[in-house]
Amino acid sequence: MSMITADPKDVPHVEHFEFTPEYLAKAQELIANYPPGRQASAVIGVLDLAQRQQGWLPRVAMDAVAKLLGMAPIRVYEIATFYTMFQLRPKGRYLLQVCTTTPCWLRGSDAIMKACQAAADGETFSVQEVECLGACVNAPVVQINDDFYEDLDEVSLKKVLDTFKGGGTPKPGPQIDRQTSAPEGGPTTLRSE
Ligand code: FES
Repeated sequence: MSMITADPKDVPHVEHFEFTPEYLAKAQELIANYPPGRQASAVIGVLDLAQRQQGWLPRVAMDAVAKLLGMAPIRVYEIATFYTMFQLRPKGRYLLQVCTTTPCWLRGSDAIMKACQAAADGETFSVQEVECLGACVNAPVVQINDDFYEDLDEVSLKKVLDTFKGGGTPKPGPQIDRQTSAPEGGPTTLRSE
């Protein structure tokens, strides 16, 4: 099992981080959305770019973000350590963010978490427990990298994970027969032309 934690002893040392020209251009585009002197408002987006470039957020990447935005490094660490969207140690190719808040818990997130933990090897999959992902109506939900997989049970979760393992990309969204959060099997109202 490979849970994502921020335990400092598990964090490898990274000597240097520098934005590539491509990521730097994206960061500057984000910063330009804010008035002069307010560039710190772009911190979450710029941290996200640093994480996408590196795969995770070593301290040197947070320092580079702080420098770019003219912020004290501690202000950037505070943000990066608060939000679960930032990973402070390397992760597998697919990060399974399992929601265990009440609606997902009532709909079986314990079993989903157990199955994700069993699949997590730290290389293909890593797992992280998160609070409400905001898709409770389709509980239980797991966010896998940038996509939500919803209405899961152990069987559909296994299918999703097997597809990723085999190099495919399973269709995100509900894993039962419904469109977004519409009733299972199709609409029950407003059906006439
Ligand atoms: S409780 Fe899981 S998405 Fe809201």
